[in-house]
Amino acid sequence: MLGNKRLQTTFFALACMLTVWAADKDVPLIQNVMGYESQSLNGAWNYIVDVQEEGYYDYRMNVSRWGFFQNAKPQKPEDLIEYDFDKSPTMQIPSDWNTQDEKLFFYEGTVWFYKKFGLTPSPSPVGEGSSKDKGERRLLYFGAVNYDAHVYVNGQHVGHHVGGFTPFNYDVTDLLKDGENTVIVKVDNKRHAEDVPTQIFDWWNYGGITRDVKLVSVPALYLEDYSFSLTPVPSPKSEGSKISIPKTREISFSAKLNRAEAGQQVTVSIPELKIEKTFTTDAEGNVQCSVFNVQSKKLQLWTPENPKLYQVKISVGASAVSDEIGFRTIETRDRQILLNGKPIFLKGISIHNEKPNGGGRANSVEDARTLLSWAQELGCNFVRLAHYPHHEEMVREAEKMGILVWSEIPVYWTIAWKNPQTYENAKNQLTDMIARDHNRANVIIWSIANETPHSPERDTFLGNLAQYARTLDNTRLISMAMEVTGASNYVNRLNDNMNKYVDVVSFNQYIGWYRDVNDAPKMKWEIPYNKPVIISEFGGGARYGLHGPKNQRWTEEFQENLYIENCAMLDKIEGLAGTTPWILKDFRSPRRVLPGVQDYYNRKGLFSDKGEKKKAFYVLKRWYEGK
Ligand code: GCU
Repeated sequence: MLGNKRLQTTFFALACMLTVWAADKDVPLIQNVMGYESQSLNGAWNYIVDVQEEGYYDYRMNVSRWGFFQNAKPQKPEDLIEYDFDKSPTMQIPSDWNTQDEKLFFYEGTVWFYKKFGLTPSPSPVGEGSSKDKGERRLLYFGAVNYDAHVYVNGQHVGHHVGGFTPFNYDVTDLLKDGENTVIVKVDNKRHAEDVPTQIFDWWNYGGITRDVKLVSVPALYLEDYSFSLTPVPSPKSEGSKISIPKTREISFSAKLNRAEAGQQVTVSIPELKIEKTFTTDAEGNVQCSVFNVQSKKLQLWTPENPKLYQVKISVGASAVSDEIGFRTIETRDRQILLNGKPIFLKGISIHNEKPNGGGRANSVEDARTLLSWAQELGCNFVRLAHYPHHEEMVREAEKMGILVWSEIPVYWTIAWKNPQTYENAKNQLTDMIARDHNRANVIIWSIANETPHSPERDTFLGNLAQYARTLDNTRLISMAMEVTGASNYVNRLNDNMNKYVDVVSFNQYIGWYRDVNDAPKMKWEIPYNKPVIISEFGGGARYGLHGPKNQRWTEEFQENLYIENCAMLDKIEGLAGTTPWILKDFRSPRRVLPGVQDYYNRKGLFSDKGEKKKAFYVLKRWYEGK
């Protein structure tokens, strides 16, 4: 009997799975989700901690038909249902579970999340003035879920997403009903060798629904994607000779509808520039790269000093979406980085996407403003958002504040280079990072990796990623954080095959921390590539408030001295176009366990985890004032 029951179970489970999973509702990421009316699903969500995934697998590790996604309730007194979302504890979403429930501080595993919601009648589908469009769609949008998410709406599986730092959305229109709806998300943040990032990384593996969840209203026909970019003017061949600005500047525009419909009129209007242009879609529903001109003297370029953003409206049929677009060009010329044709030195700092005080994933405008204002206090015009795409508000607030951005995917340390799924995973995260932020004027560098060990497999993996990135966006610079190898005691040489794939050669160096600070004055740097150089990490740890002689590790004086020596050393590096010291603020890491000093924090911040400035802060600030 048992045998047959198991067989029945397996067959039935499979049948049910096929039904429940039949039609995944994955649709391409919508561009500028903030431009659409939406119903927020943020707030209290019930959760069930499911260490052994009892809610997903049966005792034979087959996907169970009685999974928690069914949200089953006892119908008869004798019914056996061993979970109940409605009686389970709640936590505020978006957040990470590690800082929401102290029992989950170190937890890595599966947690189920449940939200009941009624449908708020959607206002006129999109933007101002347009009437309700018959056939309106509802997209269920997640800003990010770390790491592996299965999503169910009213018991139906709508999709499976892997990757903890990029958004995804599902068209759930046909699953929604008037009255009560439920969304259930199975979130698993366990680490595996084939993942991206892989098993070990120097930051806290915050788990959960870490960014906004919303139900976005779009008409049946909407703009899946669009992009603007300013065509560079031919930059003067030699340094110092004047840039000849043409009378008019060329703006490129392209767009993609959610449906392959020819003959659709897509209108772009930029009132402040008195621009109103209409383009017609081709058979694929695309507006291929089209240009329009604007008088140079009328166009304010986006710069850190003047982060000018223009109100732009793009409409097609009943759909219209507004956005704020800045126009600027970014290029390299030999060892210089040129912003709007002029050389710029990138006075940067590295940042993790962690709340300004006390840890936990950052996910709000306020978190972004606080972290970025600390960077501006340092005198920064640039931030390296490490080692994964940060929340969208971080990038948009930086754009408003005039802060340039390096954005990165978590291809970090030793990834499973030979594993095709790992490559697809990295490629998806790269695609979504660029898809979300490619209209942000302040984003100038896409970084595809950090501190990866040299090997032919790694070179192939990263080479393909770099080339792929250029097919998605050829208007920005590509880079990665490389490592230098010690040519001899005091000569550091950058020797990386990836140099031919990047526009900017960047590397991390830790003279003074993982190597004696007294070597700094003697160091020679050999960087045999005629490309701009960014020192993407340098620094050392200090416990805020710990004072002592400058050779006593962990004191603020030690870190201060390290910065003094490093800044002087960096001044001697030919072709240095910028730096992003490690790091703005102490951040949580499971790899940092020294009691009374680290206590699960990486202490290389210039600010403590409570926002207190350490002595080294003032060294870097002074150095940047001189730049
Ligand atoms: C590495 C790495 C960082 C890490 C840092 C450190 O360079 O890129 O993620 O936190 O070093 O050791 O503190």
